[in-house]
Amino acid sequence: MNDGFRIVESQFVKSAVQPSDYPQQALAEIAFVGKSNVGKSSLINTILARKAIAKTSSTPGKTQLINFFNIRYKLDESQQGYFSIVDLPGYGYAKVSKKQRDSWKVMIESYFDKRTELQGVILILDSRHSLDSKDQIMHQMLIAKQIPHLIVATKADKLNQKNLMRNLKSLTMDLNMPTSKIVPFSAPNKTGVKEVIMWIQRQVFY
Ligand code: GTP
Ligand code: MG
Repeated sequence: MNDGFRIVESQFVKSAVQPSDYPQQALAEIAFVGKSNVGKSSLINTILARKAIAKTSSTPGKTQLINFFNIRYKLDESQQGYFSIVDLPGYGYAKVSKKQRDSWKVMIESYFDKRTELQGVILILDSRHSLDSKDQIMHQMLIAKQIPHLIVATKADKLNQKNLMRNLKSLTMDLNMPTSKIVPFSAPNKTGVKEVIMWIQRQVFY
């Protein structure tokens, strides 16, 4: 199991808004959350090695629903299993109505509160940008609800090493955590894929 599990198949299950819409299944679940356009769907597609299972777009605000995917993994030739991945609605997109803009918090918070299958959350930040108030709210919510979480800084390929390190340092200072705990990620370069998969594996199994 040391090498990490291998994802062999992924399938879109359904989109949901409220808890009564969530799929009824007893699978360990890992959710992905972050600002709109941060690269959430790209990260999901990259770790699943799929081009477009989670819809990506250059127009922010496309994912306003909670999207559930089932994943089949293999540990070795004889052992396999399933878990789920959840793409939560992106927050902070300015060009939608105020009502829509504020619905993210209710949707995400009720998902956190109601979803007993939830084993961990990956909070995605843009490595080029500083932490904003909504990222802070999200991070505080994860801490307060004692949900295991991993912080990933994506679009790392858009910065040179020096600026990347500087930004990771300032992000982690604002999050009040050690810089070594943030995972730099890049969808095109596949940076950080292994770390993210290993973390998911730990949450799913233990
Ligand atoms: P919404 O669901 O609309 O909120 O967006 P999202 O967070 O799912 O972002 P998405 O994956 O759709 O990516 C938004 C844009 O950023 C797309 O144009 C992606 O190609 C680009 N992008 C995402 N990840 C990376 C990355 O690691 N590097 C680079 N260079 N571009 C990326
Ligand atoms: Mg998306």
